[in-house]
Amino acid sequence: MYSYYSILLVLCMSSYSLSASSTLDGTCVNPTTLSFIENSLTNISDQLKGSSCSSDGAASEELTGLLQLALVKELAKDYKDESCDKEERKLLKNINASIANKIDASTAATDARLNAIEPQLASLQSQVSSLSSDLNKLSRLLAKHVNVSLDDEEEAPSSPLLSSCDAILSKWPNSPSGYYNLADVNGHSRHVYCHMETLCGKGGGWRRIASLNMTNPNEKCPTQFRTYSSGGVRACGRPDTNSGSCFGITFPSKDIKYSQVCGKVIGYQIGTTDGAAAFYASKDINSAYIDGISLTHGNPRKHIWSLISGNSIEYSFCPCGSSNPKSVPSFVGSNYYCEVGCHHLCSSDPLWDGKGCGSTETNCCQRTLIPWFYRSFTHSTTDNIEMRLCCDEDTNNEDAPFEQYEIYVK
Ligand SMILES: *[C@@H]1O[C@H](CO)[C@@H](O)[C@H](O)[C@H]1NC(C)=O
Ligand SMILES: *[C@@H]1O[C@H](CO)[C@@H](O)[C@H](O)[C@H]1NC(C)=O
Ligand SMILES: *[C@@H]1O[C@H](CO)[C@@H](O)[C@H](O)[C@H]1NC(C)=O
Ligand SMILES: *[C@@H]1O[C@H](CO)[C@@H](O)[C@H](O)[C@H]1NC(C)=O
Repeated sequence: MYSYYSILLVLCMSSYSLSASSTLDGTCVNPTTLSFIENSLTNISDQLKGSSCSSDGAASEELTGLLQLALVKELAKDYKDESCDKEERKLLKNINASIANKIDASTAATDARLNAIEPQLASLQSQVSSLSSDLNKLSRLLAKHVNVSLDDEEEAPSSPLLSSCDAILSKWPNSPSGYYNLADVNGHSRHVYCHMETLCGKGGGWRRIASLNMTNPNEKCPTQFRTYSSGGVRACGRPDTNSGSCFGITFPSKDIKYSQVCGKVIGYQIGTTDGAAAFYASKDINSAYIDGISLTHGNPRKHIWSLISGNSIEYSFCPCGSSNPKSVPSFVGSNYYCEVGCHHLCSSDPLWDGKGCGSTETNCCQRTLIPWFYRSFTHSTTDNIEMRLCCDEDTNNEDAPFEQYEIYVK
């Protein structure tokens, strides 16, 4: 027999809580989804509070029970995953029994109140449908709240993890952006952020492997970089060096395969950066072949994208510039952005945002995806991605600090 007194109490006291991190520690539940469910339950319970709980105990018990049933039912309905079959059957069995006990007593008044919360239930359902292999724990949690005992003789199967954000999105097309667990190539579970909306014109299902936003005062430069702060701009540059140098940061792939990269880097010009004509420029991918940022993958390094800081309107030194253009090494091809800023980190003209291109660099801003860049490889890889800030002269002469980056793979 299943008792609803406990949830009734919990709901009526509006303290219903599905605590995302503590209760479901280590599951694949997307915290965004959980907090949404939690908010919705609190909201629903607020609406029930006073109106029914205080005046009409019996009806409200009914309603609360039905509400809980509806939730469990939606959960069960949405989990058609084979791995969830056993759990689902248990739930259905419990629901059946509960409905048999409770539904007959449903009154017109209860129906009316249920109709009132229908939109929220529908919304909950769409959120719930994005939970993947978490049925076991979530249903146990719900079961705990509705005081339903799950049959212990049937051991729940361990839920297989998917190996990409894209796979999650294919399986559950309404999945929201947020944290999920994926299996890496060795079958180990990896906690990752999935961006489910379209990026780079190539659909959703992207895994974020790096992000920095220095316009948020709480964010700090990676330790190997210095923080420039001027005129309201904060950006990360090379530490003091008296010659050319490259400083890099590695973004681990977490041993999860990918074959596409979509990213964005915003930076600023300091001093007299020389674009693709870096004075001591070599054509070697391991050295300062440009003044700016070089994104590569793997070891030995393979080129992804170059973000180049030009010099000035007269001497753009950008391959895309019309005044004193300079060429990039052949391994770069057209996989670069090059812009001229101003010489002192001025907030009015960030680099590589596709805006503020002057008369001699108009072509540089006319790129389809800018500020985003996109690469697709013929083979998938688990290479780490490296971002290096390189300049061929000392830091008194020049630098090209970055303010933001976001790098996604799939
Ligand atoms: C759950 O149900 C059992 C048996 O029906 C009962 O003994 C127990 O007190 C209930 N627990 C709560 C928290 O209501
Ligand atoms: C709570 O319910 C009210 C009334 O239906 C609605 O306007 C509000 O947006 C809901 N809030 C949340 C967080 O769902
Ligand atoms: C639920 O009840 C119906 C009949 O009322 C029955 O046909 C069905 O098999 C039951 N489902 C489960 C999972 O017990
Ligand atoms: C960066 O952070 C600022 C301040 O928190 C915010 O307004 C802005 O939208 C963020 N930018 C990105 C690209 O996330």
